[in-house]
Amino acid sequence: MIKKIFFFFLLYTLLLHTVNAQRKTTLLLQDWKFTQSDTQAAQPATFNDGGWRILDIPHDWSIEGDFSKEHPSTFNQGALPTGIGWYRKHFYLPADAGNQHVQLNFEGVFQRADVWVNGHFMGRHNNGYVSFKYDISKYLNKADENVIAVRVDNAAQPNSRWYTGSGIYRKVWLDISSKTFIDPWDLFVQAKVEKNGNAAVEMSAMVSNFSGPKNDLKVIHEIHDASGKLIAKGEPVALVLFNEKTPVNGVLKIANPVLWSPASPYLYRSTVKIFEKGKLVDSIQTKLGIRYFGFDPNDGFSLNGKHFLIQGVCNHHDLGAIGAAVNKSAIKRQLTLLKDMGCNAIRTAHNPPSVELLELCDSMGFLVMDEIYDTWAKKKNKFDQSVDFKNDHQSDIQNWIRRDRNHASVFMWSIGNEIREQFDSSGLNFTEELTALVKALDNTRPVTAALTENDPSKNFLYKSGALDVLGFNYKLDAYSQLPSRFPGSSFIAAETASALSTRGHYDFPSDSFRIWPPDSKSTQHGNPDHTVSAFDNVYAFWGNTHEKSWLAVKQNPHMSGAFVWSGFDFLGEPVPYQWPSRSSYYGIIDLAGFPKDVYYMYQSEWTQKPVLHLFPHWNWKKGQTVDVWAYFSQSDEVELFLNGKSVGIKTKNDSSLHAMWRLAFAPGQLKAVSRKNGKIVLESSIQTAGDASRIVLRSAQSELNRAENELGFVEITVVDAMGIPVQTADNLISLSVQGVGKIAATDNGSPTAHSPFGIPNKQLFNGKLLAMLKTTGGKGQIILEATSPGLKPAKFIFKAR
Ligand code: GAL
Repeated sequence: MIKKIFFFFLLYTLLLHTVNAQRKTTLLLQDWKFTQSDTQAAQPATFNDGGWRILDIPHDWSIEGDFSKEHPSTFNQGALPTGIGWYRKHFYLPADAGNQHVQLNFEGVFQRADVWVNGHFMGRHNNGYVSFKYDISKYLNKADENVIAVRVDNAAQPNSRWYTGSGIYRKVWLDISSKTFIDPWDLFVQAKVEKNGNAAVEMSAMVSNFSGPKNDLKVIHEIHDASGKLIAKGEPVALVLFNEKTPVNGVLKIANPVLWSPASPYLYRSTVKIFEKGKLVDSIQTKLGIRYFGFDPNDGFSLNGKHFLIQGVCNHHDLGAIGAAVNKSAIKRQLTLLKDMGCNAIRTAHNPPSVELLELCDSMGFLVMDEIYDTWAKKKNKFDQSVDFKNDHQSDIQNWIRRDRNHASVFMWSIGNEIREQFDSSGLNFTEELTALVKALDNTRPVTAALTENDPSKNFLYKSGALDVLGFNYKLDAYSQLPSRFPGSSFIAAETASALSTRGHYDFPSDSFRIWPPDSKSTQHGNPDHTVSAFDNVYAFWGNTHEKSWLAVKQNPHMSGAFVWSGFDFLGEPVPYQWPSRSSYYGIIDLAGFPKDVYYMYQSEWTQKPVLHLFPHWNWKKGQTVDVWAYFSQSDEVELFLNGKSVGIKTKNDSSLHAMWRLAFAPGQLKAVSRKNGKIVLESSIQTAGDASRIVLRSAQSELNRAENELGFVEITVVDAMGIPVQTADNLISLSVQGVGKIAATDNGSPTAHSPFGIPNKQLFNGKLLAMLKTTGGKGQIILEATSPGLKPAKFIFKAR
């Protein structure tokens, strides 16, 4: 009997030890209590939150609200409610976590988060985008319930130039490790590619210790390839630890590594293990992409030794109809659309992104210009980040770099966008200080800023001498003079275009430019119904058309490439309009994720695949003069036919990236044929549609994964009796869901629509509507049905996993 008990005891301790050795990530996403109000004294563990709403995070309470011009955040921030909210989470520690080290991680709370654990105040974190965490080990109950209380204060408005969202809109998790461990933010793994093509992988970490002096510790660094094979293992490094952080470093060699690039995003895995008296006590992993790059004042950017043109877009963090609440599948959908367009880089305007975005950029292959600020100490809005800048910038920059520096995708740090300190000497010290803070934690990537002042004598961020690469926003006429004005500097077009369009809306003539607004004095400008033509001929006075902006980058080889403003429409900043517009017109892709026509201009320039995109739609008044455009590539001419008769052949030249024909409308079929050396490359046609007769549902997915919170994206369109898409349709569609799912949001991409994103009935906007579905639990089917008076209904079925 005694033997048996001893055996079980031994087995138990062994098991416990194995479990302890594995660092545990416990996500705290479900069943938070929430109230959208300020309440006194909700911080004690004993507070009765019984009447509060129960929800899952990531959560954004702004997106759940109604649009109104009365909201203090204004149309510039999406005309949605802000205010104050409280969250509480009750939880028990995993059985074996009682004696462990426990850190509470918040990946993003907008904003001013006060955090309590079991009534103990952990701290205030102001910045809504920078991740933060607390060591909560000593405040936890091992066997009893624990309570996290968070007060979120997004009340002082306006505090941004775009939609922020409100609440705990990114993940929260516990990092449970042994008391001798490496904090993930204390680990930095970087590969240097040597002249002979081999890589030296440098690992530097801090080993934390909270369990008294240790004299028999060893740290080992290993690298596995993408298939999981161990390919490099370091010699054990012996450490003596007291109660403090102790540095440990090592270099591993990889012969002929597979290099990471957007075309081939190969990721190794680096693991650092700590052994105490031969037993594993901690193990921490990070993905590792091996690549090298450089900027040249004359030749622009190179990646892995080859010239590489940065074909990037700027994106804000909101995900359209689901707001700021992070959802990996929604980000993946955005990145997939961008990848297909040929985009190879993202600028995270103007704040650190979600972890999910960086992970996807690592694995899908995008370079990332990771940016932290839109303001330093000088404000752009009364209550914006400038309020906290002086007190918080040191810790914010440290959290930002420590969190993001192991991502292969991140290739530049941007310390600010159009910072007001550019224009006076206060810019000198800040630029030096911020750059030094970045370099102290990562000196492998260049530091840049997005500048507007292109006179070197007046630009104090430049004059500090601290920036490695100069980013310039707009002002493309000056690109050619940058090398002589800023000798020896390297350049990137940090922001281009600010061209405007409404998906599916067309005004004629298409070849005269509309500058909306024309100058800084005009506020509203444009069409009475708040539309903007989708021929690429409308832009804000500081910007230009997509086409001219891209041509200017191409024609100036010292420009390393560009980040177009913007990849997607986003909530807020509805230039050239104000209320009732509430989201932007800048996107290459609309808010619902439907590409506008100019998407195909970029695709024709940014990919090698043959493109032939013909627009507008073909439903006009008989005899009306209509302009027809085509974006085409991999061909030297394109011919247009109306009802079988040629309208003319167009070729491309260096100053234009589209073809245009002007003709009198006649119903029927419009067809374009592109040719190379006389051989047909592609054909594309559009047809005059009759009345809508049938609903069509489409999705690229067929299964939804509940564990990953995967959303199902269904595109809703209508066709006439002959099956021809009705691109001008605005039918009201009613959606219902049966089975293990429900509607998460609907959106038709209109920047002026005011019905909430959560409702199941919505009009098509220029022929399209998007439904986002989510799972509700369990396996089975999710059946979406779409109906509309007088139309044949349609169903789409997902399988829930
Ligand atoms: C830029 C600014 C962006 C956005 C854009 C709109 O100047 O950096 O945040 O406001 O203009 O055109």
